Amino acid sequence: MIKLAPSILAADFAKLGDEIAKIDKCGADYVHIDVMDGHFVPNISFGVCVIESIRKYTDMVFDTHLMIENPEKYVDVFLNAGSDIITVHIEANMDYEYIKNAVKSRGKKLSMSIKPNTDVKEILPYLDDLDMVLIMSVEPGFGGQKFMPDMLKKAEYIRSINKTIDIQMDGGIGLNNIADVVKSGVNVVVAGSSVFGADDVEKTICEFKKY
Ligand code: DX5
Ligand code: ZN
Repeated sequence: MIKLAPSILAADFAKLGDEIAKIDKCGADYVHIDVMDGHFVPNISFGVCVIESIRKYTDMVFDTHLMIENPEKYVDVFLNAGSDIITVHIEANMDYEYIKNAVKSRGKKLSMSIKPNTDVKEILPYLDDLDMVLIMSVEPGFGGQKFMPDMLKKAEYIRSINKTIDIQMDGGIGLNNIADVVKSGVNVVVAGSSVFGADDVEKTICEFKKY
């Protein structure tokens, strides 16, 4: 069965605690937390104080997707705030060794993401260190974009060489394309608008969790 990681970027920030309680009750697995700095991506979302606030209200796994330059400057504060998984982008300037040690020394999970135009093979030198690979199926920066089906090949490739690593896909995923996503080898699914924008959030999560 897949793990479902609703992205709170699509939630109502005025009632974030209630939104998270709802997805928790409905059986979602992770809270996907999109941090954007306005440099690595052309958008600013929110920072560490939001994570600290919501950590008090749920025991769900916090899956923190850092779309920021120089993530080594911030990795400690995001871990201290309660992140369980840290994803950094291979395209960002970073001190990778520092990040790896910060995450692993706390027993947390390390993940690396690739943007749509990045060759999947660039991830290979890191694969042995990683708990998860995040394949972007839209250009990072905004929710509600159209899914790029060509990205499925990247998941198929990673799965063909590693049967056990978590493969996450992020961007434009809904009940209309989840079957293809899972078939490609993805086992951790991010869904923003299709979950928080659904008329019936509980039913939508149940439908996702059939895969
Ligand atoms: C995009 C973010 C995604 C986004 C997904 O930069 O990384 O996590 O919130 O939103 P949807 O599912 O609406 O494409
Ligand atoms: Zn994301």
